[in-house]
Amino acid sequence: MRAALVSTLVTATTGAAVLLATSASAGTTLGASAAESGRYFGTAVAANKLSDSTYVGILNREFNMVTAENEMKIDATEPQQGQFSYANADRIVNHARGQGMRVRGHTLAWHSQQPGWMQNMSGTALRNAMLNHVTQVATYYRGKIYAWDVVNEAFADGSTGARRDSNLQRTGDDWIEAAFRAARAADPGAKLCYNDYNTDDWTHAKTQAVYRMVQDFKQRGVPIDCVGLQSHFNSQSPVPSNYQTTLQNFANLGVDVQITELDIEGSGTAQAQNYERVVKACLAVTRCTGITVWGIRDTDSWRSSGTPLLFDGSGNKKAAYTSTLNALNSGGSTVPTSTTTSTTEPTGPTTTTTIPGPGGCTASVSLNSWNGGFVATVKVTAGSSAINGWTVTTNLPSGASVTNAWNADRSGNSGAVQWRNVSYNGRLAAGTSTEFGFQGTGSASGLTPTCAAG
Ligand code: XIL
Repeated sequence: MRAALVSTLVTATTGAAVLLATSASAGTTLGASAAESGRYFGTAVAANKLSDSTYVGILNREFNMVTAENEMKIDATEPQQGQFSYANADRIVNHARGQGMRVRGHTLAWHSQQPGWMQNMSGTALRNAMLNHVTQVATYYRGKIYAWDVVNEAFADGSTGARRDSNLQRTGDDWIEAAFRAARAADPGAKLCYNDYNTDDWTHAKTQAVYRMVQDFKQRGVPIDCVGLQSHFNSQSPVPSNYQTTLQNFANLGVDVQITELDIEGSGTAQAQNYERVVKACLAVTRCTGITVWGIRDTDSWRSSGTPLLFDGSGNKKAAYTSTLNALNSGGSTVPTSTTTSTTEPTGPTTTTTIPGPGGCTASVSLNSWNGGFVATVKVTAGSSAINGWTVTTNLPSGASVTNAWNADRSGNSGAVQWRNVSYNGRLAAGTSTEFGFQGTGSASGLTPTCAAG
């Protein structure tokens, strides 16, 4: 889209050079440059560094997404069973929101950084404690989280493609989908991600195993919206040549893909080139919606001896920063929340009109279920542009069927049911919502509506 715009301007008038400079505006910070293609650029943040002015200065200037490095993990948020502690996580969330940054939640269910009480649990008691944790934390942060890493690192390394052995895994294979369902019920507005490392190389057994799980979840209607690739790279685990293929293949399953914990050990040009490759791979994949680096300065890194980040210990920009910024500014696919068209009047200014694309709205559902029936209330929300109509698709599980509905026209009453706006609720201003509902028999558990504008 941008290439087309630029060529129009170049051929248009003698003032082309000036117009080109403003229209193809290159961002000067990581966040602004990523935003040009509808993406975000984030960092892990540690609450105890929010009093470090150099750190906060870079954070506020460069980033528009934040992940708590440790403060939302299970040991931090539920140190004693049933006693929740959010003070440090809140410091990060409040700082981010105060700066207009969004927050990735990390993480609700994980074998690591469990509090002692949970490490000692097993069986049904552990399953219930895990589900309660997911529900409590996702409910507490409901409406404040862009995406949750619902489950982290559940697959084993090596060639088996098996699940990682853990106390959670020993509660039964379905612990992952149970966690996702609980998270959806608690915060229907958050994107729900599966997050892991060593899932960057398409040929690796672990990558394949995660892919098959996500494919299975999509087929069975388990609520999952995104896959996070941690992407911790070093000489033992370099950026694979097929990295973009991996991102694209996950995206093709109908989920967003995010690079969630990027760091690349090294220095100088080699490191800069590796960062450039990773950024360009994301930009080439329409549904790669953002990149998060795992810390700000090398000295902030969990692997500080490998100097894997974009700023040196003094907060200076490294070569890897420049290559990352340039790669973000080099264009690439635009994330399809909206499409932008531009027209150039022969003598007048450039006019930009934003037309909602297929991703111009989102839908979430709230279910009221009983044995044998349910009422579903579906909320349709316009994206960053106004929309003139919407179609929502709900894939009802087998055995479920719709008996009556309100505030939407329906086609079908089982399986993939489509809902179209009626005359009075199709037009939604940017960011505003409307609701429709339906009653049905059977169970609609796990229902994940999708929305298309237009
Ligand atoms: C790391 C933190 O950076 C460290 O401060 C902490 O001691 C251990 O955890 N995968 C993840 C992250 O999902 O949560 C980990 O973060 C790094 C690996």
